Amino acid sequence: MHDQPPSACPHSAPAPPKPPAPDLFTWEFATNPYPAYAWLREHAPVHRTTLPSGVEAWLVTRYADARQALADQRLSKNPAHHDEPAHAKGKTGIPGERKAELMTHLLNIDPPDHTRLRRLVSKAFTPRRVAEFAPRVQELTDQLIDGFKDKGEADLIHEFAFPLPIYAICDLLGVPREDQDDFRDWAGMMIRHGGGPRGGVARSVKKMRGYLAELIHRKREDPGEDLISGLIRASDHGEHLTENEAAAMAFILLFAGFETTVNLIGNGTYALLTHPEQRAQLQQSLAAGDTGLLETGLEELLRYDGPVELATWRFATEPLRIGGQDIAAGDPVLVVLAAADRDPERFERPDLLDLTRRDNQHLGYGHGVHYCLGAPLARLEGQTALATLLRRLPDLQLAVDPEELRWRGGLIMRGLRTLPVTFTPPGR
Ligand code: HEM
Repeated sequence: MHDQPPSACPHSAPAPPKPPAPDLFTWEFATNPYPAYAWLREHAPVHRTTLPSGVEAWLVTRYADARQALADQRLSKNPAHHDEPAHAKGKTGIPGERKAELMTHLLNIDPPDHTRLRRLVSKAFTPRRVAEFAPRVQELTDQLIDGFKDKGEADLIHEFAFPLPIYAICDLLGVPREDQDDFRDWAGMMIRHGGGPRGGVARSVKKMRGYLAELIHRKREDPGEDLISGLIRASDHGEHLTENEAAAMAFILLFAGFETTVNLIGNGTYALLTHPEQRAQLQQSLAAGDTGLLETGLEELLRYDGPVELATWRFATEPLRIGGQDIAAGDPVLVVLAAADRDPERFERPDLLDLTRRDNQHLGYGHGVHYCLGAPLARLEGQTALATLLRRLPDLQLAVDPEELRWRGGLIMRGLRTLPVTFTPPGR
């Protein structure tokens, strides 16, 4: 299906010239990257490109290649394997994390170090802890909706999708309530400028990390029932996380769990508002007390327009081949999850949003040893947010034409800048 069939007869007309490659990383591309990804999957499934930062990288766009690359141990997460010192200039990692002691987090290391740290954090960040957190996520969701419900209009990104995950993760980590608005400000800076100048972002990251280091120090003296105390307590065969490792871990939980969830709620709500039949079906099943469609539906929203457009950086540790393409040692490889999850070789009618889709092993949470650690929390927040919005504001509508919406132009994440909506205030 992917490749053009070779011309069967030597006398037939020559194959039409390959259409020109689409422009990547423009504003049009940020608005709707899917036609460009379809082109890449078809004509250049492992494609070398120059990113806006100037770094050259391979983009992997077919599902089978993407899944294989995500699990390939020859592709390292450690930026030290990059053949040019771009990571040293802050171009291939998280801004502000360049100090060696801050680099030791799950998304920057390989087994066996990764295995040890992941095992330790998994002891504290368990599905059970997440399940016990459900009433608090519901309470936060209701409080945020209470904050704007009487206006009959809201920007769902700033008033809902953005604060929910930041307050949720702060609560889970054990950040005292009186300090949580500082986190909201720092996180706001990171999300506003994520794709742009990095100075302000780096300053916010530094403040956040400084705060977390101090909090860890305090929790060591006076532990509680929160996740940070759990990280400090967690031990494996007598081994504990060092204070630096615990700080790096708390930071990566915040960093990996924040903007992703903002965009899950934002992109998911937008997809429902622009697919009225699917949304009506979901509303009916929720009204009947059935959560089955919400569960399959959230996975479909992740596949259809998920928050993580490209997986994080990987670097070839030796010469290797992906999808028939030679990759040199030291080359950066970016797996395009959004392209893989629309691959017609893997998904039937991939451009169709179908909340009932069951054969849906999407790559939205990654694959292999770096598979998203926070997936149970993301599911809890996503399902609670969407179900509560649709239940409490049943006639929710987009307030503007979809063409007027602006998408963020960042490299890894896909999300809306604003999502203006209108609705009838409850009780009127
Ligand atoms: C809808 C929301 C989310 C999506 C779509 C998502 C997606 C992903 C993806 C694609 C990866 C793998 C990246 C790679 O291999 O390059 C990942 C890893 C990770 N995610 Fe999530 N994530 C979400 C929410 C969360 C939350 C809420 C948390 C925690 C609070 C979290 C924590 C992590 C961590 C710690 C890793 C690194 C795991 C490792 O390297 O072993 N994520 N996530």
